Formats: sequence, structure tokens, C-alpha cells
Amino acid sequence: MDLSWTVTLLLTVIISAFIYSTWNSIYRRHNLPPGPTPLPIVGNVLHIKRGEMVKSLMEFKEKYGSVYTVYFGHNPIVVLCGYNTVKEALIDRAEEFSGRGRLPTIDQSIKGYGLVFSNGNRWKDLRRFSLSTLRNFGMGKKSIEERIQEEAHFLIEEIKSQKEQFIDPTSFLIQSVSNVICSIVFGNRFEYTNASFQKLLTLFSMVFQDMSSIPGQLLEMLPSIMKYVPGRHKRIIESLQKLNDFIMERVKMNKESFDPDSPRDFIDSFLIKQQQEGNNPNFDNENMLMTLQNMFFAGTETVSSTLRHSLMIIMRYPEIQAKMHEEIIQVIGENRIPNIEDRSKMPYMDAVIHEIQRFVDILPLNLPHATIRDVNFKGYTIPKGTDVFPLLCSVLRDPTKITRPDTFDPNNFLDNKGCFRKNDAFMPFSAGKRICAGEGLARMQLFIFLTVILQNFTLIPEREFTDKDINPVMTGFANVPKFYRMSFKPRI
Ligand code: HEM
Repeated sequence: MDLSWTVTLLLTVIISAFIYSTWNSIYRRHNLPPGPTPLPIVGNVLHIKRGEMVKSLMEFKEKYGSVYTVYFGHNPIVVLCGYNTVKEALIDRAEEFSGRGRLPTIDQSIKGYGLVFSNGNRWKDLRRFSLSTLRNFGMGKKSIEERIQEEAHFLIEEIKSQKEQFIDPTSFLIQSVSNVICSIVFGNRFEYTNASFQKLLTLFSMVFQDMSSIPGQLLEMLPSIMKYVPGRHKRIIESLQKLNDFIMERVKMNKESFDPDSPRDFIDSFLIKQQQEGNNPNFDNENMLMTLQNMFFAGTETVSSTLRHSLMIIMRYPEIQAKMHEEIIQVIGENRIPNIEDRSKMPYMDAVIHEIQRFVDILPLNLPHATIRDVNFKGYTIPKGTDVFPLLCSVLRDPTKITRPDTFDPNNFLDNKGCFRKNDAFMPFSAGKRICAGEGLARMQLFIFLTVILQNFTLIPEREFTDKDINPVMTGFANVPKFYRMSFKPRI
């Protein structure tokens, strides 16, 4: 054997040994739950069907059980499936699983600031402050319910002005939902004709769609590679920056007319908090900007997408639409604007809204969690800081809790006397310490907006919808509704 052959052979052995030992030390070092065998560099990315992250993760459950590990690159992610397992982690062991995991599609813009993506004391401080402010402490005289009712009135006028034409309802639904958040965060709403506000709102949809797209999913799994690859995922950061510019402008406006004795909105409440807390970095300007962005973003696309799904489902079932209207007329009548107390007297409406949220499953993967210390869970050891995906889709469609999980049926939330019945599998807002901070606000909006729309209009589809139309397309981060057109026929 000549020298060059010997050198080549030696090099091959050394490189193979290096790859094997790196692979072994990266992927096999912990007593993590089992899962598909990862490859060097890309981990399990090739096991995820193109553009079908949710479906692939649900399929792994069949093979590896309710707790398993997948690798995005060399980053392990522990996936939790089914009601019992998700409950055990998020509710019974809430503190240990309360960390926020990585979301590479937007981490670069957020940098760990703000309520949604922070951890530790920063998160605790921002969550306590945000929840108490949203509960109406320190936000002026108008209650959140009044702000929603005011917007519901504008929404009805806007729909009437469309004069029964077949239209895509997206833009005015997103505007009305966003106006509620704007009224809370910035102290005012925007006209439906305001073109620059409309443009800003298209950014929300774009970010949601880009995050759920194939390049968005690849960025989620292989951030260190995808950051060098061109594609629509690159727009996400640009869109978020435009939102930040808008918010910073609003903060500047608030500062100019700020009176600590009479706070008008969430921004004023934050400015007061900054004064009270002195040098506490958890309330600095970066955390203020990101918390405002979180509210604005989290509160707009989720609720408006749910409303868009809702109208389509209600039109798919004319008998459900008729029953909802009958209950509205019995409890509220034709003219009075609905209020939140009506909900307890309207079990059918309540059950339909719960079933819509279960069925449409707006955030099927949940937001990523992380362990805040080493955790022993079901015989495995999950090291501190490991990303955890508690899959909401696996809870909302858990066959042990819902008899026919893939069928839309309000009876999942009604007993045999027609009274509202809770179901443990209802977890669209997640559960435990990180449960959605806007749950109360979102549920109030869904109830008041849907009730007022059905009180005033009969919903008519441009074409008949099928079961396939109403079933959410489980792709990635968010279940974005399909495009459709419809007409609103005034009832009076
Ligand atoms: C239908 C509407 C909504 C749905 C389905 C929804 C769902 C969720 C989910 C699944 C999470 C992740 C929870 C977790 O990490 O375990 C979340 C977090 C959050 N949501 Fe919502 N959400 C909705 C509306 C809203 C609204 C209107 C707001 C506005 C204030 C909001 C603000 C937040 C915030 C601030 C968090 C982060 C909480 C934290 O990390 O402590 N959401 N939401």
C-alpha cells in the first residue's frame, strides 16, 4: 500500500470516529425520551414531511408514545401528546415546565424581551403587571367590555355598508379585533377606511402565514442554515420591525401628553410602572416595546382568524345558525347590544364557540415551553433548558376525551338537558403558568362579536362549504383559515 492510500485510510478512520463521537455525544448524552434516530447536522428534519410539521409530529406519537424526542438540527425537543401527558406537565408540574422555549422564526427580533418570550423574574414581573392591567386596573374609566361593545357597533355599521355583496370578511374582522387591542393598548381605535392602519394589519397576517409556510417551518428546524437561505421567511423580521416602528411612534405620542394621575391605556400604565420601579430592568424600554408588540400581535391574528373560521363553520351548518339565532332572540332580543353576563344564559352559543375553538385549533403546536430545571418525567430525565412542545392539537382531538374528535359537534360541550358542560380537552389557550394572558379578553370578543353578527345578519356562503373546507389545514405554527366569500343579509 503506498503512502497516499495509508494517509487517506487513516484520515477516513479519524473523520468517521470524530463524526460518530460527536453524533453520540450530541444525540445520546441524556436519558431523554426515545424518538426517531437523528442524523448528524440536520437531526430529524428529514423525518418531518415537507410542510406538514403538525401531521408528522402526531404520527411519531403512534410509534413512540405520548412523550418522545425529536431533533431540530442538534437541538433536542421533547414533545408531549394527549390530555393526560400535557396536563401532567403543564398543570401538575407547572413550575418545572414554565420556561419559554426557542422560536427561531422570531427570536432574532424579540431577543428575549417582553412578556411572551421572556423567562425567570423578567417574565414573572411582566406577567403580573400585564394581567392586572388587563383586569382593568389603571386603564382609565372605560371597561374592556365597553370597548368591545363600542367596536361591535362599528362592525355592524361597516357590514351594513357592504349592502349584501359577496365579500371576503377578513379585512373588517381583523380591523374590529385589532381596534379593541388598539383601544386597550393605545387608547384609541382607527377608522375602517384608514389605509395606513389597514396596511399595518396585513403585516400581522403576513407574519402568521410566513411562520406557517414551508420555509418558515425549515427556519424553525434549521435556523443556523436557513438564515443564509433567501425566501419568504426573511420577511418575518422586516414585518415585525415595521410593527415596532409603529408602536414606538405611539409611545412617543403618549409620552408627550402623559399625565400619571389619569392613565388612558396600557402604555400609560407601563410608563407609571417604570416611574414606580426606578431602575428595575424588567420594565425598561425594550421590555415595554416588546410587551406592547406581544399584545398587539397575539391579540389580533388569533381572535380574527378564529372569527373567520367561525363564520365558515356556522354557514356549513344552517341548522346550527338557526338555533344560535333563536337563543339570541330569546335572551337578548333584536336590538340590545350583547353583554358578557348574557353568556351564562346562552349555553348553546357558549357550546358552539367552545367547539369552534376546539375544532379550529388556532395554535396546534402551542408556543414552545422549556424546563426551568432538570426534570424527571415519566422515567426520563429532561435537562434544564430543554425545549418542550406540549401539542395542543393532540389535546383538542384526544379520543379519550372527545368521542368523534374530527367531527364538528357542539354536543361535546352540552349535557343531555342542553346545559353547558365543561370538557377537559378544551385547551386552545394552553394551561398552567404560561396559559394565554389574553384568554378572558379573547373569549369576551368571540362571544360579543359572534352574537352581535348573528343578531343582525343571516350568513350566506357564496358556495356551499364541505367538511374538507371547514377542517383546518394542519401545517405549521398557525391554522390559517381558507379564503372564502360570503354575504351578510340584514335581519331587520
Ligand atoms: C382565540 C384567541 C387566542 C388564542 C387561541 C390564544 C392562544 C394562546 C396560546 C396557546 C398561548 C401559549 C400558552 C403557553 O405558552 O402555554 C398564548 C400565550 C399568550 N397570549 Fe394568547 N391566545 C389568544 C388571544 C390572545 C389575546 C387577545 C391576547 C392579548 C392580550 C393574548 C396574549 C397572549 C400572551 C401575552 C401570551 C403569553 C403568555 C406568557 O408567556 O406568559 N392572546 N395564547
